[in-house]
Amino acid sequence: MPSASRTYLVTGAASGIGEATAARLRAEGHTVIGADRTIEAAGVAIAADLATEQGRAELAARAREFAGGRLDAVIACAGLAHFTPDTLKVNYFGAVATLERLRPLLAAGTDPRAAVVASVAAVHPSDPAVVDAALAGDEAATTTAAQSAIDRGEGYLLYGSSKAAIARWVRRTAVTPDWAGAGIPLNAIGPGTVLTPMTEGMLADPATRQAVDTAVPMPLHGYARPEQVAPLLTWLTSPENTHVTGQLLFIDGGAEALLRPT
Ligand SMILES: NC(=O)c1ccc[n+]([C@@H]2O[C@H](COP(=O)([O-])OP(=O)(O)OC[C@H]3O[C@@H](n4cnc5c(N)ncnc54)[C@H](O)[C@@H]3O)[C@@H](O)[C@H]2O)c1
Repeated sequence: MPSASRTYLVTGAASGIGEATAARLRAEGHTVIGADRTIEAAGVAIAADLATEQGRAELAARAREFAGGRLDAVIACAGLAHFTPDTLKVNYFGAVATLERLRPLLAAGTDPRAAVVASVAAVHPSDPAVVDAALAGDEAATTTAAQSAIDRGEGYLLYGSSKAAIARWVRRTAVTPDWAGAGIPLNAIGPGTVLTPMTEGMLADPATRQAVDTAVPMPLHGYARPEQVAPLLTWLTSPENTHVTGQLLFIDGGAEALLRPT
């Protein structure tokens, strides 16, 4: 049954999975406050660079203003896959800031829910020093550890590290009094390869495409379109989701099952 009109905040709303999710929610009659780095794209009302403290503070302040002090759901999609410390700044610290700083608005909402886009890369090899520093909430130490990985020629570990860390943060945070205790389900999803601007360049190059297909084998239906990922995010953040929390739900065409059969 479609739910009554709700107010959602979606980060990364200018492109890919965030854009498709915002479009689906609007088509269902909900109000979506879109956030992204700039407000150039249609449907984006808040410009906030989530790699920076200033941008994170801006997101919280503008969201409070636009939403009138209450939100029914937050969906954190903003992310990037660079071999730089920015991948941790946005995918981990930006996502945590989004969820933590908007939680008071959720607490004032109706059937409040939250979700973040992690990745099947959460089960790829990661750098424990980066993951531990992130989970300790130490952004400076995380940047130092990420730079060490880059200097060792292991910058490729940073994306998986950012996604493993955010999935673990979700798991430990979802069951606390602020979330489960306040009736707010909090989950992550783990997409496989999705056809968005993030992957366009990788898939255009035959050698990189081969590496992507080896790392993320998708026997069920192959690559996903962002419109095929959006329904999982919209369900997790709908009033219908009363008991799923703390989970990393893979939506990956079988990749995780193949990579971790036991
Ligand atoms: N495409 C895939 O195959 C895939 C797979 C698994 C997970 N993901 C994750 O899904 C999420 C969405 O990715 P997508 O594939 O839709 O990519 P995308 O590049 O199409 O969209 C990402 C959006 O995040 C925004 N963003 C990036 N850095 C930002 C910053 N500093 N501040 C604010 N916004 C910022 C971008 O401007 C963009 O609009 C990301 O977290 C990504 O890691 C993608």
